[in-house]
Amino acid sequence: MIPGEIIQQITERSDIVDIISGYTSLKRSGRSATGLCPFHNEKTPSFHVSPDKQVYHCFGCGAGGSVINFIMQAENLTFIDAVKFLGERAGINIPEDNSYDDRLTKQRQRLLEANKAAARFFYDVLLSEDGRKAREYLISRGLSSETITRFGLGFAPESWDRLTKHLKGLGFSDYEIMDSGLVTQRQDKRSYYDRFRNRVMFPIFDVRGNVIAFGGRVMDDSKPKYLNSSDTKVFDKSSNLFALNLARKSDNKVLIMVEGYMDVITLHQYGVTAAVASLGTALTENHARLLKRYADEVVLCYDSDEAGRNAAKRGLEILSSGGVKTRVITLEGAKDPDEYCKKFGVDAFLRAISGAKTPLLYKIGLLKAKYDINSPDEKVEFLNEAARELAKMYNPVEREIYIKEVCAMCDVSEKSLAANVNKAMSANKKTEERKDKNEILKDLKQRSVISGSGGMIYQNEKKLVNLMFYDYEAFRFIIENYDINEMTDAFLKEVALKILKMRENTKTDPKEIELISSFPPEEAGKIADILSFELHFENKTAGAGQIINSLNAAIRKQKLAQLGKSGDLEKIKELLEQKKQNEE
Ligand code: GTP
Ligand code: MN
Repeated sequence: MIPGEIIQQITERSDIVDIISGYTSLKRSGRSATGLCPFHNEKTPSFHVSPDKQVYHCFGCGAGGSVINFIMQAENLTFIDAVKFLGERAGINIPEDNSYDDRLTKQRQRLLEANKAAARFFYDVLLSEDGRKAREYLISRGLSSETITRFGLGFAPESWDRLTKHLKGLGFSDYEIMDSGLVTQRQDKRSYYDRFRNRVMFPIFDVRGNVIAFGGRVMDDSKPKYLNSSDTKVFDKSSNLFALNLARKSDNKVLIMVEGYMDVITLHQYGVTAAVASLGTALTENHARLLKRYADEVVLCYDSDEAGRNAAKRGLEILSSGGVKTRVITLEGAKDPDEYCKKFGVDAFLRAISGAKTPLLYKIGLLKAKYDINSPDEKVEFLNEAARELAKMYNPVEREIYIKEVCAMCDVSEKSLAANVNKAMSANKKTEERKDKNEILKDLKQRSVISGSGGMIYQNEKKLVNLMFYDYEAFRFIIENYDINEMTDAFLKEVALKILKMRENTKTDPKEIELISSFPPEEAGKIADILSFELHFENKTAGAGQIINSLNAAIRKQKLAQLGKSGDLEKIKELLEQKKQNEE
């Protein structure tokens, strides 16, 4: 457990606008800041951050909460790890203490310990007599013993249970071992065997230096060439990168993304410590977020085959839409960076890196390779396709520069290409407008559903809870004139009761962070939704009265509607009578 006052100190020193600005760009508008939601794809900003309340909320996807919830969500961390993350950033030391009462964290801790023990085991086996063949293999791949140590490489012996027995000997339980990703479960789901056998082992570290998983390579041509740990509570291959723990320490703010473990290791051995690799998967949005934290720019340097080119194209798209500045290189004369460095030397590799192409020129280069520019018809096709790509650039200066480049590539006048680009741009604009219109229509439809009678009840109950939280007078009025236990929405009721409790103890207004953190993190978004608006009443108690009235009216309306269906005339009359009295 991290002491409450330290958590408070950390949140006070972590301004929410400041922190979130590192993930999405925010614009001030009145008393809040808005931007595009980092958690879902959107074109118009529905993500709001309030500097006064220190909460965020997205009206599009419902995400929300305190700065801690934000970091949990953005960095995929547990509550405690998110607090630590913010603590590190704010320069506040958290006393190390392994008695986390959070069971999940304890479990994660054990998994990390099991992975660390396995890394140690594989390393020791590599250096032992059983590891001779593996050592020879690594040396034949050009790796030095310093490199082997720096990456903590190892060897999984040819055995079904040596690792398992070793872990059991260290006190790890069957459950812990089965959860570790290091074994394969048999069909009966109770017994298991070592997942990695007779493979050279590459430990995978997270950015903090914990071993979280392994990749294992065969030493011959058998299949599969590589095997990774299965995903676990501490390992998700779509949000980790191989060697980022080392690369993030290089001063270079440019990271080099390659395909393979061996490419990374060779590059680091040559002194190119900015190299990282994804773990045998295509790049994801999570990768983009991670990269954005550690790099100003990423150079994609994939294998020079068809698969590599496709991966680069997809990677470019993912990274650009994640706001990561990206360039691409294509290596000529070698299949991958590992081979390239060995064949042409690291200087040639670095020259290639500095000549990396911008995404657009890379894409146009790929296009050009598809056409025979010497044939007039194909040249026209190519220029049309290129114009469509150029039309996607919003910046007119950049567009002009690129138009010049493309014209130089195939000897046509700038004027004619520019005309083509303009034509493509106006076509794009029309489709955009159509899309926007559709989005607005969809939005309107959703709103009209929400403002039905069920929706009115919820909206009014939400307003009451908001007032209870923000205004003491209104709070008194509400508990005297309204029975909180009657609240129809179970969650709102729970929040209202919590506020009641908080206010019972003190007359000062409660803090947002207190309320949010008294609920499980999954609920943070809903709480932020309750807190994220302000009710403007001249007189808050009168306002509370109005809300209670419209709430009662909405409830009556709903009952009437239900009764109308059931046909109970007596009750309908009774309700109508009440309604009349109320209106007088
Ligand atoms: P070497 O062949 O030893 O030079 O390895 P490499 O790192 O250059 O591998 P390669 O270019 O063949 O593949 C790139 C990456 O894709 C590897 O580092 C692995 O992460 C992943 N990969 C390759 N083959 C497999 C496989 O059979 N299974 C899995 N899960 N991943 C693979
Ligand atoms: Mn290779």
